[in-house]
Amino acid sequence: MEKKNNLITDCIEEVLVSEEQIKARIKELGEEISRDYEGREICVLTVLTGSFMFAADIIRELSIPAKVMCIFATSYEGTESVGKVDIIKGKGFNVKDKEILIVEDIVDTGRTLQAVSQILKEEGAKSVEICTFLDKPERRVVELYPKYIGFDIPNKFAVGYGLDYEHNFRQFPFVGVLKPEYYEK
Ligand code: IMP
Ligand code: MG
Repeated sequence: MEKKNNLITDCIEEVLVSEEQIKARIKELGEEISRDYEGREICVLTVLTGSFMFAADIIRELSIPAKVMCIFATSYEGTESVGKVDIIKGKGFNVKDKEILIVEDIVDTGRTLQAVSQILKEEGAKSVEICTFLDKPERRVVELYPKYIGFDIPNKFAVGYGLDYEHNFRQFPFVGVLKPEYYEK
């Protein structure tokens, strides 16, 4: 436990969203989604890798039946969006006539989910909505409006609770900002 605390205090400069805040908000979101989709069949589309933790927690708060599917989407190198979105769908991926709820870790420029939404519509999804854990609204460059948002955060590069910097720091149960020296490593 002490080693874990050292790991955190060594690299985190600021906590943006605490573990307690996350737990409370996920309960609220789970209830809201369950109410909105009452009586309908929902398909949760987890956008990997960043949303694995959020998706695992939110689906356990749903009181409606849900299919769960995954895709990989990458648009980042280091702390910069490269503007080009790579999407990998698994075998048997089929969204035709399904009510899709995209579950994402963070919406930044909006390009990733714009590309994902486009594909889902082209492939015949019945409806497409977005549930994002975090939102950085001031960074948006395309029109994209998530229906469900965990937390708005300022324009800072966040890690923890699934979000990474070069695949590190996903394991933290909260969202924080790294000390500057970690981004320079
Ligand atoms: P967008 O296409 O610019 O909206 O970028 C969305 C993707 O970039 C997210 O799914 C994340 O994987 C990544 N991303 C954007 N901002 C951050 C951040 O602050 N920390 C970690 N990853 C981020
Ligand atoms: Mg992501």
